Amino acid sequence: MDKPLTLGEGIDSWNTIIFLYNSALKEVKTKVEILNDEFQQVHRYNPIEYVKSRIKSPESIVKKLKRNGYESSIDNMVTYVNDIAGIRVVCSFTSDIYKLAEMIGKQNDLTVISVKDYIRHPKDSGYKSYHMLVTVPIYLSDRIIDTKVEIQIRTMAMDFWASLEHKIYYKFEGNAPEYISRDLRECSGIVSMLDAKMLQLNEAILEAKEAQATSAPDKDAIKVGKYR
Ligand code: GTP
Ligand code: MG
Repeated sequence: MDKPLTLGEGIDSWNTIIFLYNSALKEVKTKVEILNDEFQQVHRYNPIEYVKSRIKSPESIVKKLKRNGYESSIDNMVTYVNDIAGIRVVCSFTSDIYKLAEMIGKQNDLTVISVKDYIRHPKDSGYKSYHMLVTVPIYLSDRIIDTKVEIQIRTMAMDFWASLEHKIYYKFEGNAPEYISRDLRECSGIVSMLDAKMLQLNEAILEAKEAQATSAPDKDAIKVGKYR
């Protein structure tokens, strides 16, 4: 097959575009699930709590183009709207986010276009999450098309904050009174404290388990049924 085409080149039907974005979502979702399964296999540990995905609605695509000063056209949408296909990966701990992002970045057939680390550099709103814009090649019968997917990786606590903030803030259409924005930023700080505390606890538990295993191996062996 020839060199992959970029989505937009020679593709002009809405249905084809949505079909490609749907296929790209499936590809990336499967990749993430395989990484999670491998992690479980090797480390007996699941870094991912849950995964959500969605295709942006036509109304939201048109709204975003308009907001950014572009006319509604297929060309503009594939060029300027990067989050038509979106996948959200919700992890247990902040450390899992970086492990997962690294593993995603190493996948040979994914191309990382950009990364935004809103965990190290939170938004003014207090928003935290790790974003990767990638393209994945979609193999059609006669050509390959690189298709964009936005991956958002965050902890459950970050997801909790973002979901509620979105609901609350949405009502004000960006013009919330200052005290509400301030309180939301404060909540974001509380969420970060919770994440840090949970990570600390997890590390302490792992250490305690390790210490137990080395000091009383027989007791543990009985527990897993080796002495039956
Ligand atoms: P959007 O037009 O909102 O997609 O922004 P963008 O294309 O400039 O990208 P950005 O990295 O700012 O945001 C991408 C996505 O992150 C958004 O579509 C939201 O899902 C999420 N996001 C960004 N900022 C916030 C925020 O302040 N609150 C919440 N709840 N979500 C946010
Ligand atoms: Mg978006």
